[in-house]
Amino acid sequence: MNLCMIGTGYVGLVSGTCFADLGNRVFCVDKDKNKIDKLNSGISPIYEPGLNELIKKNYSVGRLIFTNDLKKAISKSELIFICVGTPNKKNSNDVDLSFVFKAAKEIAKCTKNKKILITKSTVPVGTGDSIEKLLKKLRKKNIEVISNPEFLREGEAIRDFRFPDRIVIGSNDKKHFNTLKKLYQPLISKGANFFTTSRRGAELIKYASNAFLATKITFINELANLCEKANINIEDISLGMGSDSRIGSRFLRAGPAYGGSCFPKDTKGLVSTGEKFKTNLSIVKSVIKSNENRKKLHTEKIKKILGSLKGKRIAFLGVTFKPNTDDMRDSVSLKMIPALCKQGSKITYYDPTGSKKNFKNIKNCKFKKSIRETCYNVDLIIIHTEWDEFKSLEFSKIVKKKSFSIFDLRNLYNQNQIKNKNIKYYSVGRPNSN
Ligand code: UGA
Repeated sequence: MNLCMIGTGYVGLVSGTCFADLGNRVFCVDKDKNKIDKLNSGISPIYEPGLNELIKKNYSVGRLIFTNDLKKAISKSELIFICVGTPNKKNSNDVDLSFVFKAAKEIAKCTKNKKILITKSTVPVGTGDSIEKLLKKLRKKNIEVISNPEFLREGEAIRDFRFPDRIVIGSNDKKHFNTLKKLYQPLISKGANFFTTSRRGAELIKYASNAFLATKITFINELANLCEKANINIEDISLGMGSDSRIGSRFLRAGPAYGGSCFPKDTKGLVSTGEKFKTNLSIVKSVIKSNENRKKLHTEKIKKILGSLKGKRIAFLGVTFKPNTDDMRDSVSLKMIPALCKQGSKITYYDPTGSKKNFKNIKNCKFKKSIRETCYNVDLIIIHTEWDEFKSLEFSKIVKKKSFSIFDLRNLYNQNQIKNKNIKYYSVGRPNSN
């Protein structure tokens, strides 16, 4: 099939490339000329394992086309996917849909024949209805609006696209399900569940899924606090609970607090949708609050470990919100590093994806090019992100100091083994870890 992806951000670029790899001809359109030029010269604007190779492969055989020419891309495509950003409005839970409506208007301007418009961006319940209304106002009755939310995790996006648990299609007109089924047939044949519902239903499934996963994480994080006080290991609780198939073991890893471009934004977006429909989503509200409060707990714990923060040297291993991505959005490090520096600590940090502009203007915060340089002579090492390269370090050889501590926010190390090496080791939700 011929497809048009509007927006070459995370969703559009990964999905577009993967659709091309399934044999479709995909036009990836973006207004940003710089981005399109870069993509045409083989440079991906985002960091995602395996994506560069897949782009090159499909670009070289002409299945993947990067262009600023929306009109041409639309005229050649049967399905048009809106993949633009849907951030929260400033200081509000409401979702800023301006990019979505702008894209819909442009599609309307360029469309002559019958087309199917599909929202892949995460959009609140009723957005499809509003787009439909807008198109009617613009006298474009030949454009159908369908919802097809994405469930790709950063860092695992290509695998998640190829082996999805489910493909969700929302349409108020059943005849469109077959068109989308044809597009996704290669994945359905491999076992993906093809789930159809109303357009509003599909829109809500996306928010409900992200909010539920965020709830699971927040729940286990609060239990981790209890475990620390009651001398219990949180990992046993996750395993013990998770082996009940009604609960499931995934997303029960206690850690610093959830971050990223989706859970923080979508939990707020769901609360705002609840308010719009006069429904109090009190559980989701509590999750947001608990996750926010959690970020402050770490600084308190570090103060306790070090006695005072003034003049203390602290190394951060990893600053992104999760491994295998360069994404800093809502990463816990964005709260922790400025707070620690403000109270007099001297921070060095290392991340496999390089230095971050977020910390450029913070006095006493410096990026180092290696783990060794970052940890040399520090008082405390904070393991913030669970990159593979942090999983088997010989800390004493790297720090080269008699006494130092480790605060492992991802529970990467066996605490007995590490304590035998005379290192003061603190982790999350384990006995004696507070
Ligand atoms: C999330 C969802 O998992 C995807 O299904 C969805 O498509 C995506 O949002 C989106 O809406 O676009 P993502 O934010 O990329 O994906 O990353 P996750 O792997 O879900 O992790 C989110 C946060 O939760 C990270 O900060 C991670 O460290 C944390 N987390 C995750 C935990 O603390 N514990 C866990 O057990 C799992």
